[in-house]
Amino acid sequence: MTARTEQSPSTIRLADYRAPAWRVESAELVFDLDIESTELQARLRLRADPAQHEPLRLDGEGLELLAIGLDGQPLAPDHYRYADGVLQVEGARDGSVLETRVRLRPAANTALEGLYLSGSREAGFLLTQCEAQGFRHITFFPDRPDVLSNYTVTLRADRARFPVLLAGGNPDGAGELPDGRHWARFVDPHPKPSYLFALVAGRLERIERDYRTADGRAVKLVIWSEANVIDRCHYAMDALERAMRWDEETYGRNYDLDVFHVVATHDFNMGAMENKGLNIFNAKYLLADPDSTTDDEYRAVEAVIAHEYFHNWSGNRVTCRDWFQLSLKEGLTVFREQQFSADMNSPPLKRIEDVALLRRAQFPEDAGPLAHPVRPAQYSEINNFYTATVYEKGSELVRMLAGRLGREGFRRGMDRYFAQNDGRAATLEDFLAALGEANGIDLAPYLAWYAQAGTPRLHAGGHYDAGQRSYTLTLQQHTAPGAGQPDKRPLPIPVKLALFGSDGRMLPLHMDGQTSETEAVVVLDQARQSFVFGQLDQPPVPSLLRGFSAPVILQYDYRPDELALLLMHDADGFNRWEAGQQLAQRAYDALRDGAADDAVRAWSEALAALFQDSALDPALLADLLTPPGEIELAERETGVDPARIHALRQQLQRRLAERIGAAALRQRYEVLAAPAAFALDAASQARRRLKRRVLELLALLDPEAAQPLAQRQYEQADGMTDRLAALGVLVRHAAPAAADALAHYRARYADNALALDKWFAVQAQLPGEPALAHVQALEDDPAFTLKNPNRVQSLLGSFARGNPSGFHRADGAGYRWLAQRLVALDALNPQVAARLATAFNGWQRLEPARRAAARAALDALAAQPLSRNLAEIVGNMLKD
Ligand code: TRP
Ligand code: ZN
Repeated sequence: MTARTEQSPSTIRLADYRAPAWRVESAELVFDLDIESTELQARLRLRADPAQHEPLRLDGEGLELLAIGLDGQPLAPDHYRYADGVLQVEGARDGSVLETRVRLRPAANTALEGLYLSGSREAGFLLTQCEAQGFRHITFFPDRPDVLSNYTVTLRADRARFPVLLAGGNPDGAGELPDGRHWARFVDPHPKPSYLFALVAGRLERIERDYRTADGRAVKLVIWSEANVIDRCHYAMDALERAMRWDEETYGRNYDLDVFHVVATHDFNMGAMENKGLNIFNAKYLLADPDSTTDDEYRAVEAVIAHEYFHNWSGNRVTCRDWFQLSLKEGLTVFREQQFSADMNSPPLKRIEDVALLRRAQFPEDAGPLAHPVRPAQYSEINNFYTATVYEKGSELVRMLAGRLGREGFRRGMDRYFAQNDGRAATLEDFLAALGEANGIDLAPYLAWYAQAGTPRLHAGGHYDAGQRSYTLTLQQHTAPGAGQPDKRPLPIPVKLALFGSDGRMLPLHMDGQTSETEAVVVLDQARQSFVFGQLDQPPVPSLLRGFSAPVILQYDYRPDELALLLMHDADGFNRWEAGQQLAQRAYDALRDGAADDAVRAWSEALAALFQDSALDPALLADLLTPPGEIELAERETGVDPARIHALRQQLQRRLAERIGAAALRQRYEVLAAPAAFALDAASQARRRLKRRVLELLALLDPEAAQPLAQRQYEQADGMTDRLAALGVLVRHAAPAAADALAHYRARYADNALALDKWFAVQAQLPGEPALAHVQALEDDPAFTLKNPNRVQSLLGSFARGNPSGFHRADGAGYRWLAQRLVALDALNPQVAARLATAFNGWQRLEPARRAAARAALDALAAQPLSRNLAEIVGNMLKD
């Protein structure tokens, strides 16, 4: 019996949650693996909820059912029915054993969900991806995260073609079979939901390390990859060991199996996956070597390795009751990962990077037609909710809670959360209750943050009373209606603050008759509240929302000299940078509005002064010298013209470069470019970061003078950071040397997929009108394919989502082209197509001509037959 089953678009609601009527106590799976055709025998021991009298219904998508039996007897055809993604079985009782046999076709699976082939039929390997609902593409099962089962998995395959056989859990035997075949068995002692199931089979190489947990368990750490890249796995192994130690020290969490496997693949829909005992990684977040990996990418590898490892507790041991609770594991794990990365690197730089990402990716999501709460109330396709809101905003919410409880209180709360929920499928309420109970605090008001979409605006105003020697800070909050929520409630907003005197020193805070340190947190939990600080002999300059203490848009009418003071003196590295960003915003606004030059001067002079400050961390200086990006600038406007924003931002940076001066830039560049042994330490990374920024500013000031520098940097680079930075400058300034450098790079990295991705990306980021033609030409490159998500992201994604002035052509050609490609991509890989389609986000705020063109392209797209994934995104885009 074969059934082609694509569920009709239907809405799943949080309010409709019901506990499962049927559970699976144990699952015994036996796979006969092969590229074209794999057979799977599943034996499920079922448990019925006595309170519910529901027939047995199991999920199953596109499965070819070969045999089915219940309690040892074959099932007659009139005792089961498989249609529309559901297998219904008559006669099952509590304790029954259901046996099914299905055939899968891994090589034909281009969606990369369920069991699929990575690489070619001849040389590739088999692997699975089950989150969120991939397991139903493998076998019939109640495929929902609140069904926790014991798994025993046996893999059988031809030994020559599949020498390595892996599944989650601990190894439990292996051996030979007739006809050159072999088998391996894995038993997972921890009950888990089906989305954490995984297997891998093929020709893979390994590196290993012995690890002993703090509580004494000997663990074998193994990283697997295809032979040609195994040498690039060592950095990830070191990062894994650091992450394991850190989780022991910071959260008291130990690993809980005898083996921990990590596998790299080039064919993956997302970053990586935390399958129990068998993490699978997009190669982009696992492989690293100086010749092909930039500094930013090194840090991303460390962060993603840690993220997936941390999931072993925040996600696997304690999992989610339903997919609405996704941020329970993702927001929490992103937060843990951010803490780890801050500890391993520089806390202020990490905070700047994270907030910049939040503003670039999450704020626009929260302000547009795709806006949804961190805990959405409904969805059509769950894969569309692996968003910046669930991940990054979710992490900000955990950060607020952690800040509220303090270091020790948060640890106490987390201990209680893990203890109370270990082995359970939990909710966000469980999380807040555990944190609150451990500290005697009611955190329930924070639930409103999880339920309400949109970024709150926080208006702050200060008033100094010389007679009273007091300063009154008035805070107000407002969240615009949207996402089906007409009336937004006030949220608890923790505002960390300090007050500065005109000499740049922090003033003691006297509030409510109490004197605290120089830093305090006030919580605004109403629409409007005032806070009075006493014993002040001068009007202070407030440093608000220090460390970005809440995910809001702060509006405070600073004078430029006040911002300059904070930029010079704020001890909070994040707020220091933020003061510079605010100054840059004002300078940008002044340029745009043709206003007087004061704001541009205030910004560029302050930075020119910092440029001479030899005590400043070069990495922070590099970030300070970077104004808000084009996406962030567009967020503040209506009638958006991305070409104009690009031009103005370039002009703004040119003004900065002029103010610093060609000679000073050049001199600094030469110092930074002086030969030094390649190293990955913070100081070396910081030097490269500033070198790139200075080279870019030089190129803006005098492209001809900068070209030989860029060319020399490209040729002499001893690592990818310098090489790619130089290539980017050559390409973006259309330097005559660009073509040669591109050809050289193309040839040098012909066999390095990740390096080649960057070659596509750098060209897709060419600003303005010419970009589209370049992208179209690159689609004909023999190395381009719509079947590989990394390649799609590097060319189509870098253009549509990372190059506003290129994508948003005035004639709408970018929109029409993308809509066409989306249809082709959707037929292969709906998840990747849906993510790419979010490039249209914000289209309603474009200037009229572009808006009309974008709408026409979206309408044309909506008229096509689309996957549920893409249909939901396009549908949301078009609803008003
Ligand atoms: N849970 C994974 C993580 O954040 C991400 C993930 C969700 C994923 N769905 C996926 C990865 C589908 C690959 C494919 O760590
Ligand atoms: Zn995750």
